[in-house]
Amino acid sequence: MDKVVALAKRRGFIFPSSEIYGGLANTYDYGPLGVELKNNIKNLWWNRFVHRRDDIVGIDAALIMNPKVWEVSGHLEKFIDPLVECPKCQARFRADQLPYDLNKKGDWLCTNCNEGVLTDPRTFNLMFKTFIGPAEEAANVAYLRPETAQAMFVDFKNILDSTRVSLPFGIAQIGKAFRNEITPGNFIFRTREFEIMEIEYFIRQEDWKRYFEEWRKETRSWIDEVGINLDKVHEVEIGEEERAHYSERTIDFEYDYPFGQKELYGLAYRTDFDLRNHEKSSGQNLKYKDPETGEEFWPHVIEPAWGVDRTMLTVLLDAYTEEDDRIILKLKPKLAPYKAAVFPLLANKPELISLARKIYDDLRQYFPTAWDDRGNIGKRYYSQDEIGTPYCVTVDFDSLEDKSVTVRDRDSMEQKRVKIEKLVDYLKEKLN
Ligand code: GAP
Repeated sequence: MDKVVALAKRRGFIFPSSEIYGGLANTYDYGPLGVELKNNIKNLWWNRFVHRRDDIVGIDAALIMNPKVWEVSGHLEKFIDPLVECPKCQARFRADQLPYDLNKKGDWLCTNCNEGVLTDPRTFNLMFKTFIGPAEEAANVAYLRPETAQAMFVDFKNILDSTRVSLPFGIAQIGKAFRNEITPGNFIFRTREFEIMEIEYFIRQEDWKRYFEEWRKETRSWIDEVGINLDKVHEVEIGEEERAHYSERTIDFEYDYPFGQKELYGLAYRTDFDLRNHEKSSGQNLKYKDPETGEEFWPHVIEPAWGVDRTMLTVLLDAYTEEDDRIILKLKPKLAPYKAAVFPLLANKPELISLARKIYDDLRQYFPTAWDDRGNIGKRYYSQDEIGTPYCVTVDFDSLEDKSVTVRDRDSMEQKRVKIEKLVDYLKEKLN
């Protein structure tokens, strides 16, 4: 984990946020390579679940919604964690994550300083509060959304009215969510601001088991597609006590992180809880009308939810490889920030620079490409391996004569001479 965190900072994937002011606890910024990797993950997901399917449509909803949404969804009342504090060292914990049963009477010692006696648990709502307009009054309170899902329910009628979807169908969204977590940590694993990729898949009640199973398989297939080692993923059935208030069945996909087996993704059967409650509260008809029978009902919902940042952390952990004297990020080529890098063999030979520059300009029309003319070739390979660039292209003196370049493969280190005129096609084929 430490090595991945160090690499992420050193090579511009992920930086501590506002670092010049000492940072802000558990807040991170994605640097030039990080934003590419993150966008590649999101594009792969969108492409797979929205563009390549004809039963799922996308939305991009507001982060601050009418506060009524959170009252009706149950988040105001139930999106809470039990908080305990240490009066001595001021450490804060989620009561359910401590090795004690705090419901039993006793003097429970702080696990941080081992001296203070922990307070009784008190409930703490995880939603971030803000105010709309200049007056900070109760009437103007609003919340940053703690999940992306609600927009898919409150936009349900608009989607039905403006598209040609029919059951079963899904609404997909990728966007930020905010949770005032009591114990964030482990780098980007748990932060207070993060992104979710989520689908609400609307079905008939009687079909829920079938579609739950289908989305279980889809989630496993996505995990494989994104390059996460399925051998380290465990499906865990979540008991009634621990399930979210809206869920009748939940499976967590947990991964063997260096800090323990923890949730990577979740899959829930949300029943018709949300549509039913929003209809009752808004007075708007949120039922689906069967085009053939005319029957009207609230569809039930299967909800697969994937954290973007957690995907990124897991992908980085799995891709990080030390081999002999090199570090390689064995990212799937479709996720790699750069698909290729171009080097002139020597940096002080204008004829080599000029040909290499031409090739570099050409490749960039097709895929993100890096340029490097510093140090020796070995160092340049090392530098590209470390950020996961699948192919390096070197222009040497022979290139001026035979109009070919050397293409080196990141993982096998194999080198091949390729005609410059065939280079784009060669790389395209390899990358696919
Ligand atoms: N609408 C359902 C929902 O939001 P969730 O399990 O609470 O479900 C979805 O969150 C996913 O978001 C999780 O499986 C995880 O990947 C990610 N996630 C949740 N809390 C997070 C946090 N504090 N920091 C980073 N990622 C988080």
